[in-house]
Amino acid sequence: MFNVKAYSAASPTSRLASNKIKRRDPANHDVQIEILFCGICHSDLHQVRNEWSGVMPTVYPCVPGHEIVGRVTKVGSAVKKFKPGDLAAVGCMVDSDGTCPQCREGLEQFCPNLVLTYNGTDAHLGGVTYGGYSESVVVQERFVLHVPANLSPAGAAPLLCAGITTYSPMRHWAVTKGQRVGVVGLGGLGHMGVKFAHALGAHTVVFTTSPSKKDDALRLGADEVVISRNANEMKKHAGTLDFILDAVAADHDINAYISLLRRDGTLVLVGAPEKPLAVPAFGLIMGRRSLAGSPIGGIAETQEMLDFCGQHNLTADVEVIPIQKVNEAYERLLKSDVKYRFSIDMASLKSE
Ligand SMILES: NC(=O)c1ccc[n+]([C@@H]2O[C@H](COP(=O)([O-])OP(=O)(O)OC[C@H]3O[C@@H](n4cnc5c(N)ncnc54)[C@H](OP(=O)(O)O)[C@@H]3O)[C@@H](O)[C@H]2O)c1
Ligand SMILES: [Zn+2]
Ligand SMILES: [Zn+2]
Repeated sequence: MFNVKAYSAASPTSRLASNKIKRRDPANHDVQIEILFCGICHSDLHQVRNEWSGVMPTVYPCVPGHEIVGRVTKVGSAVKKFKPGDLAAVGCMVDSDGTCPQCREGLEQFCPNLVLTYNGTDAHLGGVTYGGYSESVVVQERFVLHVPANLSPAGAAPLLCAGITTYSPMRHWAVTKGQRVGVVGLGGLGHMGVKFAHALGAHTVVFTTSPSKKDDALRLGADEVVISRNANEMKKHAGTLDFILDAVAADHDINAYISLLRRDGTLVLVGAPEKPLAVPAFGLIMGRRSLAGSPIGGIAETQEMLDFCGQHNLTADVEVIPIQKVNEAYERLLKSDVKYRFSIDMASLKSE
């Protein structure tokens, strides 16, 4: 066991502050990684503030962070795919049973014994797992990913959650050229959704509440941008979209989007607001529309997504911040004031 510096929250109302946590010494199958960058996902904020108490109550202290890119510093004797010096990444999961039908299909995200990167059950040290707002992490090889060398580490970090969470449903629902795809909410997830929909060849329509993001949306790959608070603009798209990715972090009118689906279209929720959304039955019945959800993605698909990003030279648009600005960043996230993901430069933790 060894001590590392980290930033943690002591309660739902505490600011994140510098702290020390313990990491295990790497066992045979483990990879030890010095963290270079960690993205700030809105899920970090939901979790720190215990907004998902009904589904996954937060255990304190909470060290968030599941968009991790770093340098391998040590490997266990049985590790085959990594060596010290390699660039490596860790996303939202650090363990699963490896034997259930979900794991056998490479869908670890659905494993009943899944261990999340933070606030999961730590089978090694007891208590809960601690995430990437820290100097280093020790993770078994099965959950460590390779980062293509052409991607910048700061911009690649958000791929580990925002990237896979938007890539996976587009692959599952087979988004392809010729389709009309809507992306709702131009935040960390949404802006990756736009990049992927565009790269997959779909006609991409962004729905945003922020008029100031219009030019960016077009630059990111959108073919059209709709200011969602403008009912007339919304109406023009009624019944036209094959697929909608909803990446909104707060309460919103879901029916306004269901009505934009064409017959047999699908709206996938990836955004996970604190409160339930009101779904009118007729919005779905008329048009045989589907409302679905999707969590992150499996490890094999996460590697596929990273390789896809390597081939297409895709990374997140990031604002790099020192860890000391994390509380300010959370407040800005709540105001949709980030273009389009904060990526924490973990070197800043050394001065704590
Ligand atoms: N399913 C999964 O596995 C998974 C994985 C990661 C994250 N998530 C969840 O996905 C959601 C988005 O995460 P994120 O990190 O992308 O968050 P984010 O960067 O804060 O982006 C959320 C976007 O939602 C829009 N928005 C915010 N408040 C709104 C409101 N009141 N009404 C309408 N739109 C609003 C804003 O876009 P505009 O300014 O363009 O309107 C904002 O940029 C969070 O709930 C997060 O927990 C789910
Ligand atoms: Zn996340
Ligand atoms: Zn399993």
